[in-house]
Amino acid sequence: MPIEYRTAVPADLPAVLGLMPTLYSEIGPGLKKVLAEFIEDKYYFKLLAVEKETGAAAGFLVGCCRLEVDFECRAGALEEVVVHPDHRGLGIGKTLLGEFEKWSAARGAEGIIVPCGREGFYEKMGFMKCPITRYWRDIKPGLR
Ligand SMILES: CC(C)(COP(=O)(O)OP(=O)(O)OC[C@H]1O[C@@H](n2cnc3c(N)ncnc32)[C@H](O)[C@@H]1OP(=O)(O)O)[C@@H](O)C(=O)NCCC(=O)NCCS
Repeated sequence: MPIEYRTAVPADLPAVLGLMPTLYSEIGPGLKKVLAEFIEDKYYFKLLAVEKETGAAAGFLVGCCRLEVDFECRAGALEEVVVHPDHRGLGIGKTLLGEFEKWSAARGAEGIIVPCGREGFYEKMGFMKCPITRYWRDIKPGLR
């Protein structure tokens, strides 16, 4: 089935959420809010792959371009990439990543960083594994 790629707009939120059960066992209000903000925020790159005939969502990638101290350069930061199970293995993930790389390079990025990845896809795509420890502290009022 032919696929086309376009920037996700707020009306695409339900379609994007429909792809998420692949990644998250539970889609709570926090995740919905974050995805809605990603899609609305002009700072982010958000590309949706859709079936040409039906318009059904086949894949989604969201990321941004920012300065990275550890790699001493500007980098594309890939937040999420997901392809619907029915469409995997057809090159959609690779195309989404390729478009994100072009967008990031046009903004001065020298590399792509993936803060958290779960599968061998990135290694297949030529990424080097760099394990890190992350820290988190709640700063919402009433939690400290
Ligand atoms: C990972 C994912 C985005 C790949 O999308 P896809 O459209 O199936 O990938 P592609 O068809 O573009 O594959 C590109 C290449 O990567 C390889 N590949 C794909 N998924 C892979 C995996 N999980 N492990 C190892 N290699 C993988 C393919 O074999 C292909 O190799 P080739 O170029 O030699 O033919 C998709 O499987 C997915 O949504 N997985 C669940 C979500 C996830 O893990 N996301 C990433 C972490 S947040």
